[in-house]
Amino acid sequence: MAKSRFIFMCLECGTSHERHMGRCPDCGTFNSLKEHRLGTASSEPTPRLAGESATAVSITQIEAREEDRMAIGMGEVDRVLGGGLVPGCGILLSGEPGVGKSTLLLQIAQAISSTGNRFLYITGEESAAQVRLRADRIGASSEELWLLPECDVEAIEQQILSIRPAVVGIDSIQTIRWEQIPAGAGGVVQVREVTSRLLALARREGIPMLMVGHVTKDGGVAGPRALEHMVDAVLQFEGERGHALRVLRGLKNRFGSTEEVGIFEMRSDGLIEVENPSGLLLGDRRHSSPGSAAAAVLEGSRPLLLEIQALVTPAAHGAPARKVSGIDSGRLSMLAAVLEKRLGIPLGGCDIHANAVGGVKLRGTAGDLALAAAILSSFHDRALPRDVIFAGEVGLLGEIRPVPGTRQRLEEAKRLGFQAACLAPGSLEGLPLDGMRIHETQELADLAKRFVE
Ligand code: TYD
Ligand code: MG
Repeated sequence: MAKSRFIFMCLECGTSHERHMGRCPDCGTFNSLKEHRLGTASSEPTPRLAGESATAVSITQIEAREEDRMAIGMGEVDRVLGGGLVPGCGILLSGEPGVGKSTLLLQIAQAISSTGNRFLYITGEESAAQVRLRADRIGASSEELWLLPECDVEAIEQQILSIRPAVVGIDSIQTIRWEQIPAGAGGVVQVREVTSRLLALARREGIPMLMVGHVTKDGGVAGPRALEHMVDAVLQFEGERGHALRVLRGLKNRFGSTEEVGIFEMRSDGLIEVENPSGLLLGDRRHSSPGSAAAAVLEGSRPLLLEIQALVTPAAHGAPARKVSGIDSGRLSMLAAVLEKRLGIPLGGCDIHANAVGGVKLRGTAGDLALAAAILSSFHDRALPRDVIFAGEVGLLGEIRPVPGTRQRLEEAKRLGFQAACLAPGSLEGLPLDGMRIHETQELADLAKRFVE
């Protein structure tokens, strides 16, 4: 028999907690938590088929076929998922407010329903009319796209069972509540409980479920972080305000790799899939100015070219500032320290601002060389040649190291009109690359000598 469970609610601020504490962690009041019992009606967390109890069987007898995956029909999303939706899977679509999660979910809904598969779009945030307006804008008008403006989890469960959609989308999980939990929607306990109920239903009925969850810049309060271990996949939607580029990244994926990313452009009529993002990213790189360098990085298995900018100025006062956008601040500090030590340039007395242009985050170490070149270029106030692409890691000794996939990165650069590449020695394993001049650079001193001194 299922045991009943308890949560603890603060009488002062109304938040719920999973264990008893002497002091409410949210409002700081002492002795304000009161025990509250949850019913067990349909809150069973482990899914079972009706009337069956689970028995162990040999793995060879379990039926699971790759063909059971349902392709969504949006190449960039299917790529990130590893081929499409698996029956009964739970997927969290997370991202900051305004990044385009609702738009993406609606476009997924349209793609699925336009092939005759019923999609139930549950909106707890916007009215059905608001969703309809957005749908008109992005051209989503399929008969099989069903809308349900509802926040109550029990009502949602009933509708799912009566409508029997092929896929369910929930926008957003933070707005859904279960009446038995006294605290308002959005608290950690609420969000976890409704998610676990909906995931159990998804598994029982074999219906894939896509849940939107908001995160804030610092990871979110009652946010999706608390749900990541419960769902099968976490897809994070990223982008910078004021930029059109959006990246869908798999942070966790039980059914595929987390290496792949999906790339989109946000336009007035919705998200457009971008197969060749480098053009978009380098598009506004007009002329060569001091502090700008082109980097060739890999996003998943795809090469991506982007502009790295640095601005080096005398420190205004006290400790020098290191400000970044789209670049890891630790990596910037490390590069500045290595440049100072190896080349003797006084960056300790300079503020450095560094930026990956276009709203993409520079990950890994392959952008080191471009960032170092941009810093040197700004420091010496000398522009780098516009047609050179940089790809390489910088070590603590100032040495330049090869990065994987160099040939692939350079093919992309060549396609976009770059004529020269600055690389670590041995990056191309001795094989030439037609149509590109290769500058092999052993260490930072060579880089400085060749381009800026
Ligand atoms: P939205 O999907 O509502 O974001 P989220 O659900 O993540 O909060 O969309 C966010 C922004 O995208 C919104 O400010 C307007 C813009 N947008 C477009 O530029 N074009 C479009 O076609 C749509 C639907 C939205
Ligand atoms: Mg939204």
